[in-house]
Amino acid sequence: EKKHKVTIVGSGNWGSTIAKIVAENTRQHHDVFEEQVQMWVYEEEVVIGSDSKHYDASVGDKPQKLTSVINTHHENVKYLPGIALPTNIVANPSLVDAVKDSSILVFNLPHQFIANVCRQVNGHILPFARGISCIKGVNVTADGVSLFSEWIGDGLNIYCGALSGANIASEIAAEKWSETTVAYDPPPMDNSRNPTPRSGSPHLGMTTVEQQDQPHKDCRGRTSKTKLTPLPAEYPPLDHDCFRALFHRPYFHVQMVSDVAGVSLGGALKNIVALAAGFVDGRGWGDNAKAAIMRIGLMEMVKFGKEFFGETVQSQTFTETSAGVADLITSSSGGRNFRCAKKAVEQGITVDEVERKDLNGQKLQGTTTAFEVNSFLQARGLEREYPLFTAVNDILLGRKDVDDIPNLVAAVTDGP
Ligand code: NAD
Ligand code: 13P
Repeated sequence: EKKHKVTIVGSGNWGSTIAKIVAENTRQHHDVFEEQVQMWVYEEEVVIGSDSKHYDASVGDKPQKLTSVINTHHENVKYLPGIALPTNIVANPSLVDAVKDSSILVFNLPHQFIANVCRQVNGHILPFARGISCIKGVNVTADGVSLFSEWIGDGLNIYCGALSGANIASEIAAEKWSETTVAYDPPPMDNSRNPTPRSGSPHLGMTTVEQQDQPHKDCRGRTSKTKLTPLPAEYPPLDHDCFRALFHRPYFHVQMVSDVAGVSLGGALKNIVALAAGFVDGRGWGDNAKAAIMRIGLMEMVKFGKEFFGETVQSQTFTETSAGVADLITSSSGGRNFRCAKKAVEQGITVDEVERKDLNGQKLQGTTTAFEVNSFLQARGLEREYPLFTAVNDILLGRKDVDDIPNLVAAVTDGP
């Protein structure tokens, strides 16, 4: 039997944390996965100062390649400093080489870079590879809004699920207990290799060999345009059990579901709400105001999901899973979008300025998502139906002020 080779595409704050989790699990489940995990690193140079335990006097403060620092010291000193990475992670600056021969691709990088990455890997991956997107954002084009799980799947001709939850990376890297949601709805041809649905997989559904040739549905319930290549029989099945084994740790509990659209949307839209929570906290309005923002934000998230992904999205994904309400709460309490928005209001500067000054190269997803969702709503004349999303966009653009929020959302707080 073949084993699954895993590549993490991305190595930022969350990318490095997920690489740590995955590498711990490929070691533990070495009967299913190759132990070595490839981690693609967008190469850059870093300086190791004399105050670091990795300081080497013979190198001094000469810039060094981040990949060679990670492979030597087993630490991502720039994006996840202070956390020991398993030695079976190999940092690789070549995207094409990192994805070569991997049957599982975990996409974990800021959403603004994914288009370029997909262009580069297209044609260089195994045709039967399967993906998981950990990216929190949406992709808006003239045609509409798409999720990165479906966008990666369509672009690379593979099936792609999603991982999202109340997952502030630094806490998980420090192995503090948390939970996440992994959405994976295996295409019928994968199910047919594994006729008996296994534990915790109530949605595995289609199982017979006759169904092998059925076209698979995308995450909106439409017949997918992608022509999937079946996973060869010598590989272990890529089902809920397999992905649970890949991501579950004693400190990182995994709930498997099938609602890929709901999980992907929860992670993207909560970033807009977290910015709003930061705005009102920055004004010093206290916890009641923040709770009101979260309530209104959650309603707009559910409405957006139902309105544009209604065939498949389940409201419970927003209201009951880690990828929904729990992520909304943690992100509005200690996420980067929240913290940067709060500081911007306190200091009277823009969120972009705080991001540049404070985040050392990490990227906010909420600002671009707010603009992208707004351009989608505006094109359909729906801005007024999403007053909080619209307010965040207008505040970011300087067209409205935080003090305008109570009026802007009055239709929701006061009723019609
Ligand atoms: P990050 O914010 O740490 O971003 C920095 C990464 O972007 C680095 O790896 C850097 O090398 C890379 N980068 C910079 N320029 C690039 C370019 N031109 N092309 C490709 N890569 C480039 O990233 P992250 O925290 O790992 O976030 C990845 C995704 O995970 C995001 O969608 C985010 O919303 C989500 N997420 C983050 C957290 C968290 O706590 N950090 C938690 C859950 C989900
Ligand atoms: P930020 O990107 O705002 O830090 O949010 C992290 C996150 O998604 C926590 O679940």
